[in-house]
Amino acid sequence: MASLPAWYFDESRMAGIDFNDATVVEIFDRNQLSSTPQKEQDLVSQLGICSGHSVIELGAGTGTFAIQASLAGASVNAVDISQAMLTYAQHKAQKSGAINIKFHQAGFLSYKHEGDLANFLVTKASLHILPDFWKMVAFLRMASMLKPNGVFYLRDAIFSFPPAEYETAIDETIEQIAKREGEGWTAKDYEGHVREEYSTFSWIIEGMLRQAGFNISDVQYLTPTVAEYLCIKVA
Ligand SMILES: C[S@@+](CC[C@H](N)C(=O)[O-])C[C@H]1O[C@@H](n2cnc3c(N)ncnc32)[C@H](O)[C@@H]1O
Repeated sequence: MASLPAWYFDESRMAGIDFNDATVVEIFDRNQLSSTPQKEQDLVSQLGICSGHSVIELGAGTGTFAIQASLAGASVNAVDISQAMLTYAQHKAQKSGAINIKFHQAGFLSYKHEGDLANFLVTKASLHILPDFWKMVAFLRMASMLKPNGVFYLRDAIFSFPPAEYETAIDETIEQIAKREGEGWTAKDYEGHVREEYSTFSWIIEGMLRQAGFNISDVQYLTPTVAEYLCIKVA
């Protein structure tokens, strides 16, 4: 980090939940129902990841997706800013027999990819940690790590509701998806996300993706507050 300018974003000061705490990480792994082994295996198949492919995952968390990509035969670089997350993910990888994963303590704005450019870059439920300007910087960096025609998959808390309806959209979402304490993410967790983290409107994300050199080949607005994008790096 020594060579970075003084105005550069400090990724070690994470917005929202503190993922540097091992207890928080264990609870996170239990609550993260959008990232079960079955769901991640389905995503690996849907993306067409298989033997011989190289994959980068940014914000890899407890490693569930990275493990499934590795078990499918890919070589994986799993990147996360939190050492507690990486330690947990490494244990899980060992237990599952996934061997072809390199773990890196680094962030969207600091990971330096070495070796061949990747076939796939994936980031899920993590990019909302960055404010918009830095999301744009992150997209530019991601594009630079991918081969021409490489695939970029993004899923995150991204808002597709009409901006003027923000109050009802947020309230209704929390009402619909919040779970009771001990059964998953609670209303308090979602309130904290909206208040302290950086979800972005879909039309802004889409402009940024194009500016970074991606074609958006598919977009699914899974709910008014969660979207997924399949993008191809322009050759
Ligand atoms: C909500 S978790 C999502 C984890 C995983 N992708 C999933 O789908 O379950 C967000 C992750 O982003 C990581 N993170 C936070 N700031 C980051 C940054 N600047 N660069 C990379 N990862 C970061 C956190 O440590 C955490 O593991």
